Amino acid sequence: MRYFPVIVVGGGLAGLRAAIEVNMHNIQVCVLSRVHPVRSHSLAAQGGINGALGNHARGVYDSPEKHAFDTVKGSDYLGDQDAIIRMCNDAPLRIYEMEHWGCPFSRTSEGKIAQRPFGGAGFPRTAYAEDKTGHVLLHTLYEQIVKFEHSSERADIVVLDEMLVTSLVVDDGRCVGVVALNLKSGQFEAFQSDAVIFATGGSGRIYSNSTNALISTALGIYIPFREGAPLKDMEFIQFHPTTLIGTNILMTEGCRGEGGFLLNNKGERFLANYEDSKNAMEVAPRDIVARNIQREIDAGRGFENSYVHLDIRHLGEKRINERLPGIRELCIKFANIDPVVDPIPVQPGQHYTMGGIDTDINGASEIKGLYAAGECACVSVHGANRLGGNSLLETIVYGAIAGRSCAEYVSSLSKTKIGTEIIEARLRDEERRAKEIVSKDGDYIICDVRDKLAQVMAQKVGLFRSESQLKSALEDIQEAREKFAKVKFNSKSKSLSYNYEFINYLETEANICISEVVVRGAIERRESRGSHFRIDYPKRDDAQFLKHTIARYSKGEISLSYKPVKIVKWEPKERKY
Ligand code: FUM
Repeated sequence: MRYFPVIVVGGGLAGLRAAIEVNMHNIQVCVLSRVHPVRSHSLAAQGGINGALGNHARGVYDSPEKHAFDTVKGSDYLGDQDAIIRMCNDAPLRIYEMEHWGCPFSRTSEGKIAQRPFGGAGFPRTAYAEDKTGHVLLHTLYEQIVKFEHSSERADIVVLDEMLVTSLVVDDGRCVGVVALNLKSGQFEAFQSDAVIFATGGSGRIYSNSTNALISTALGIYIPFREGAPLKDMEFIQFHPTTLIGTNILMTEGCRGEGGFLLNNKGERFLANYEDSKNAMEVAPRDIVARNIQREIDAGRGFENSYVHLDIRHLGEKRINERLPGIRELCIKFANIDPVVDPIPVQPGQHYTMGGIDTDINGASEIKGLYAAGECACVSVHGANRLGGNSLLETIVYGAIAGRSCAEYVSSLSKTKIGTEIIEARLRDEERRAKEIVSKDGDYIICDVRDKLAQVMAQKVGLFRSESQLKSALEDIQEAREKFAKVKFNSKSKSLSYNYEFINYLETEANICISEVVVRGAIERRESRGSHFRIDYPKRDDAQFLKHTIARYSKGEISLSYKPVKIVKWEPKERKY
C-alpha cells in the first residue's frame, strides 16, 4: 500500500490547482487521474474566465463587487453570497498568477489581457485565449506540476494517470485513503492518505445531449456520496444555449460575446420578442437564452424542428480566425460547414452541473479530511444558474482554497497514516466485487441501460420540467435499476486492463443513483429558479424555496433535507436584465 499525506482525485484545473497549493505548503501530494491531466475535460473550456481586471474601461470601471453582484443575480439568489464575494475578490489575483506562470491570454492593443462580454455580466469581464481558454490554463498548471514533480526544493508532487479511483475509504468519520483501479495493469491498488481532495468534474454524461467529455459521468460524486458526503442542489443542471447540432459540441458563448446573432427560420433575432431577453439579447444569461431558443423551436420557428442559427458571418474571416479559430475548425470537421460563410446550426444541450459535493467556504465536506473543488463541488457560487466564465474561475480560486485548507488540516493532525486495515479490507472487497461483475450473465447490455437512462434525462428532466414528467422519469430510473441488476458482462476477456465494459458498469451504477438525486430534488422544488424551470410552478418562490437542497445516501436510500442560503449583502429581488 502506498501512502501520501494528500491525494487529489482528478487532474483537471481544480485538481491541479489544489495540488500546487498543497505542495506550496511543503506537503507531498499525489494526483490520481483516470486520464492524463492534459486530457481532462477542463481542456474543452472555450470562451474564458471572469475577473474584474477592468481592461476595457469605458468611462465606468469594473470591480469585484460588480462581478459578485452579477454572479448573485445570475444565480437567481441561490448562490451563497460570502462564497461568491470571496471568489470575485480573488479573481484578479488568480488570473494574474496564471499570467505570471506563462498563460498565453489574448491581448488588447495595449498588451493587457483581453476581455470579452459574456452573458449576464454588466462589463466585458471574460479574459480569454482565442476560444481555447481551458486548454491554455490547463497546460500552464501542468507545467507548474512538472516543475515540482521531482522537486528537491520542497516535497514533491506525484502524478499517477490512468488510475480510476473506485472507492473512498472512511474510518470512523475520517477520510483515510482511496482504492483505485490501475487501468494499465488491471489491478486494484490501495492508497493511504490523511486527506483527499475530490476534483472529478461534472456529471454531464447522465444526459445524452451533453457538451461534456465521455469521462464526465456521475462516478466522481457518487463515490463520496456513497460514503456519506451529502450532495447539494443537484436539481440545477445548466443547458448551454448553443451546442452544435448532431454532436452537442460546445459553440462558445464567445461567439455571441464577439457579436454573433441568434436567428429563427424567418431570419429574425428572436430574442427581441421575449420580455426577459429583449434588452440583453444574445448576452442575456444562459438559462434565459436556452429557454427562449427552445420556445422558438417548439413554436415551429426553428429549422427541422430541432435547431436555430448562430450567425457569426458578419464578424468576418479575419476576426473569426483571430478570436474563434477553434469554433471554425469544429464546425468544418463535425458539421461540414464553414461559419465564415454558413450560419451554425445550434440547439441547447446539457453543459454544467451546478450542484455537487456539499462543501463549506473552505472546500471542506462534512467528512473529516475530505475536500472538494471545481465542478464536482458545490460551495455554492453558482446557485441556480452559473454565469459563463465563472466555472474556470471557480476551479482556480476554490482549487487553491481547498488545497490550502486541506494542507492546514493535515499539518494539524496529531496522528497520521491511520486506517491501514480498513483500507486493505476495502481493496479485497473491490477485487471480489470486480470478479462478480465480470462474471455477470443476465439479460441486458450495460451500455443500453446507460444510454436509455441518459435519453430519459434529456427528454424528461430538461429545460422545461413538470411533476408528471419528473415522476415518469423516476419510474424510468427504477426500471433502469431493475435492468441493471440483470445485466450481462459481454467482454470475452475478464482482465480489467483497459476494460471499458467494466468502467461502464461502475459509471452506470453511479449514473442511476445520481439521476435519481437530480429528479427527486427537481420534484420537490415546486418553483422556477435559474436553470430549474417548472411549467407547473413558473414563478420563483422565495418564501418556500430560497434554500439549498441537501441529498444524503444511507443503506441504498436517498433522503432530502434543506439548508439556508447565505445572504450577506444583497436581498433577493426579481431578476431582470
Ligand atoms: O460558452 C463557453 O465558452 C462556456 C463557458 C463556460 O461554461 O463558462
